[in-house]
Amino acid sequence: MSLAQFFRDNPGIRYIMFGGKGGLGKTTFSAAAARWLADRGHRVLVFSVDPQASLSDIFERDIFGKGEVEIAPNLYACEIDADRRIAEYQEEVRQKIRDMYGMDQIPDEIENYIRAASAEPAMEESAIFDQVVDIVVKGGYDYYIYDLVPLGHALYYLSMASVYDAWITKITGLREEMRKYDAVVATIRREKETEEDRILNELVYIRDRINKSSSILTDPQRTAFFFVVTPEEMVIEDTVKAAGLFSKYEVPIRGYVVNRVVPPALLEQDIPDYLRNRILMQKGNMERIREEFAGRILAEVPEMERDIRGMAMIEKMAGVLFGN
Ligand SMILES: Nc1ncnc2c1ncn2[C@@H]1O[C@H](COP(=O)(O)OP(=O)(O)OP(=O)(O)O)[C@@H](O)[C@H]1O
Ligand SMILES: [Mg+2]
Repeated sequence: MSLAQFFRDNPGIRYIMFGGKGGLGKTTFSAAAARWLADRGHRVLVFSVDPQASLSDIFERDIFGKGEVEIAPNLYACEIDADRRIAEYQEEVRQKIRDMYGMDQIPDEIENYIRAASAEPAMEESAIFDQVVDIVVKGGYDYYIYDLVPLGHALYYLSMASVYDAWITKITGLREEMRKYDAVVATIRREKETEEDRILNELVYIRDRINKSSSILTDPQRTAFFFVVTPEEMVIEDTVKAAGLFSKYEVPIRGYVVNRVVPPALLEQDIPDYLRNRILMQKGNMERIREEFAGRILAEVPEMERDIRGMAMIEKMAGVLFGN
């Protein structure tokens, strides 16, 4: 089974994720897969929530916070600016309060609350999550490739239940804060019930969006999650653990890609000791990988002559990854 075969056999797949520990090749494979699918006439969006601006690096284009940027025919890339999204939220909340309560000025207490809420880590996560939902719900592409952050974080995004919780906490917190003003405001505006309804509607709207995107992300017909591993002991161990955890969240793990394999054929040549030792070390770990992930390895990618940056290298990587 190869990656190319996988996509031929599973034409319904729309959402693709490469997951794994830091620095193993997630962004590299996301870009390579995007290129390969775009070359086959599919409209592809590869997007990232990583503030490290990794897609900008690999495509050698500054796309951070610029929306969906066309990189090549059929190939679009997007790097989400979470901070901007949070600023937009804050303004949205202020506007809602102004509208609901007919206030011109946001009371200090509420303003402080809005600021404090925005500083919560959960806020950044939900800002990112919300933008991802926007992108996915909006449609317009044949494939969405989600360039994930390293494992721990990725799990957070994938555990929709906790993201949902964060949302609800945020919203209900705000609601409680507003309730303090209700007594005063009710006497002026007699709109208590209407306001409650609106908040409820908002919650229902959010819940629907989250349910929708969560059902997309855990739908094995539409989503494929691939683990990136390298032939290193710690990486293998962490991957096995993570795979167990991901299964619990019903993430449809569809295969493993082994990266940075130094070709064993080099042993025949006159090579320096460090390289010889590395190959021997990898050999043992490759055996373990083939055992542990038997039948689910979709590609073994060699160590390349240099890092993968720019379209020529991405294309080369795509060829290797998909086995052309
Ligand atoms: N097969 C390979 N041969 C040579 N260099 C590689 C290979 N795969 C990845 N690299 C290089 O390794 C570095 C890390 O790769 P990449 O950025 O894709 O990892 P990542 O998993 O996205 O990292 P992060 O967790 O930080 O997002 C990059 O410089 C990339 O070019
Ligand atoms: Mg990356």
